Amino acid sequence: MGDGSNETVLIVGASGFLGRALCDVPYQGLNRVPAARNPRPPFLESDCLRVDVTDAESVVRAVSQVRPDWVINAAAEAGVDRCERNPGLAHRVNVCGTRNLIRACENAGVGLVTVSTNYVFDGQAGPYAETDPTNPVNAYGRTKLEAESVVLDSPCHGPVVRTAVLYGYRTGCRPNFVTWALESLLCGETIRVVTDEWANPTCVDELAVFLLGLCRRKFRGVIHFAGPEFMSRYEMVKRICRCFNLDADLVVPVTSRELGQIAPRPPCAGLKLDLARELFDPALKSFSENLKRTGEEMRVAAG
Ligand SMILES: NC(=O)c1ccc[n+]([C@@H]2O[C@H](COP(=O)([O-])OP(=O)(O)OC[C@H]3O[C@@H](n4cnc5c(N)ncnc54)[C@H](OP(=O)(O)O)[C@@H]3O)[C@@H](O)[C@H]2O)c1
Repeated sequence: MGDGSNETVLIVGASGFLGRALCDVPYQGLNRVPAARNPRPPFLESDCLRVDVTDAESVVRAVSQVRPDWVINAAAEAGVDRCERNPGLAHRVNVCGTRNLIRACENAGVGLVTVSTNYVFDGQAGPYAETDPTNPVNAYGRTKLEAESVVLDSPCHGPVVRTAVLYGYRTGCRPNFVTWALESLLCGETIRVVTDEWANPTCVDELAVFLLGLCRRKFRGVIHFAGPEFMSRYEMVKRICRCFNLDADLVVPVTSRELGQIAPRPPCAGLKLDLARELFDPALKSFSENLKRTGEEMRVAAG
């Protein structure tokens, strides 16, 4: 690997929410090469490699073509209820996909940055530190935990970064919790929001900067990166109402049992940031500050 200047990072899953942020967040000195299963705008077919992580050959081909210093894996089956309905697919993408990436990276002597989730915990005693025992309560969390082991058991260098409740705005990406709530409330729709699910909302751009920064550090093992504030989903939406002067009466508090989602969620599964703060001192804005920017980006995109 080079000295950290003008290194090349292959970003797998570039068409997803985090993948897009990894490709376009302002960051100097790294050459970022996007790779996606289905390249689509803003990427042109010509400037985005085609990589399906479940297809080992496509992974090896991309790594040998680009010869990156690092690969960041932002590809995942990240729909929690979809994973519960189709655990086989979740396993193929999250576990077998990670295995394909780690083998290709090992063979090429390349580092792999892996993204995991607070859903590896059961949510009985959060927020959690890196060393706390894991115990996922749904198929998504189980496959992400197994993927962590695939990486941690391999001689390949590279960190596993757990994060939570990503928010921010990118055109064409699936709505996240914040954009869903904000768009619904702006349209005057009533929304039902759980009071008994707690985590730290995480600005996708801040996570992307952290992940790109890790490509220049010699960190191995698990590290948590999330927003600095720990709150319930209901509190997140109350903050959205305050920030944008929206009608809080449209927000109906419910329990997760009442909401009846397919996959159970860990109730209290935020992440402690002490290790990331101690080692890397990341610049983190408040939830409210980042909300304002997200709202502004949505407004500009709507024209
Ligand atoms: N979103 C959250 O709140 C959250 C919280 C904690 C952790 N995470 C983790 O953060 C990471 C990024 O999540 P995200 O929110 O950006 O998810 P996302 O928007 O759903 O993006 C996932 C990406 O993975 C791609 N993908 C799926 N199967 C693939 C395959 N077989 N080969 C190649 N690419 C494939 C998708 O491609 P297509 O567009 O072609 O489907 C999409 O680009 C994941 O590891 C997730 O577990 C997310």
